[in-house]
Amino acid sequence: MLVLGVESSCDETSVSVVRDGKEVLSNVINSQIKIHEKFGGVVPEVASRHHVYQITLVFMEAIKEANVKPEDIDLVAVTMGPGLIGSLLVGVNAAKTFAMMYNKKLIAVHHLAGHIYANAIEHEMKFPLVALLVSGGNTELIYMKDHFDFEIVGETLDDAVGEAYDKVARVVGLPYPGGPHVDRLAHLGHDTYHLPRVYLDDGSYNFSFSGLKSAVINLNHNANQRGEKIDVNNLCASFQDSVTEVLVRKTLKLAKERGVNNIIVAGGVSANRGLKERFMAEGEGFNIAIPSIKYCTDNAAMIAVAGYYQHKVFPNEYADLSLNAIASLELEDRYIK
Ligand code: KG4
Repeated sequence: MLVLGVESSCDETSVSVVRDGKEVLSNVINSQIKIHEKFGGVVPEVASRHHVYQITLVFMEAIKEANVKPEDIDLVAVTMGPGLIGSLLVGVNAAKTFAMMYNKKLIAVHHLAGHIYANAIEHEMKFPLVALLVSGGNTELIYMKDHFDFEIVGETLDDAVGEAYDKVARVVGLPYPGGPHVDRLAHLGHDTYHLPRVYLDDGSYNFSFSGLKSAVINLNHNANQRGEKIDVNNLCASFQDSVTEVLVRKTLKLAKERGVNNIIVAGGVSANRGLKERFMAEGEGFNIAIPSIKYCTDNAAMIAVAGYYQHKVFPNEYADLSLNAIASLELEDRYIK
């Protein structure tokens, strides 16, 4: 089965062709990072315009690279949300147009399901599992009994992890997106600032990162006022240690509580080396899967793979040409069994 995936929820225009939910024949990604870098973050209006410029070219390139004909595609899977509404609309309308032109079935995929199913490309997803989903817009702990059976057990009460990374990077003068830069510098420093670890004392699996972010901002501000120099490498290492400790320990605690051996990590922040290293160091005895970097951040292969499994679980749930993008969409609400 050939699935064509389309992703445009933020600042990556991506189209991919995947065979049988596994074999990635093409995964073309046009990233707008360079465009948004000068603004220090994604400007939604600029992002949607660039999706419009790129989407047709990316479709053509993905089909050419996969060495297939549009007629060969069996199913079109598109990200319907959550994300930036103007960006999402470009992908949704392009997917609808392609499906209409070639008379193909269309299905609407939740962006976070895509991140989770990025793991199915290189690993076998074994259930039950606990998924830690960490990206620029989301931080969630999810329990899955089976394919497309999502129970959100914990989520961030304020900032998403990637958002906290990007803000901390900006404070210490690193470019956007800051996560990879903080990660790199963290490996050159040590945890000397001992920033707070926020576990929340309500016994929940929720997260909070705004206090940690404020601690970094205040530390930087106070040092500037006193004319002292901050050691950026050590600050990055301290921030990363604090974030990864909470993420890893809460994930392992949930897995133990539910008697689950399989853990998957998903989303842009799953590219973080510190997170990987801590999972390897503390997660002995668990089967931990993290996608390779090209499948961690936004890409259409993950949408095609999620579409493939979604189609198996909900075989007759096709979208029609009235499909609309939704900016705010809960994973559990999208897939009610
Ligand atoms: O999943 P993604 O591409 O987009 C969303 O759907 O949000 O994630 C982007 C986020 C950004 O905040 C970026 O700084 C972060 O992932 N990120 C990282 C790393 N690589 C990307 N954060 C920490 N360490 C990294 N190595």
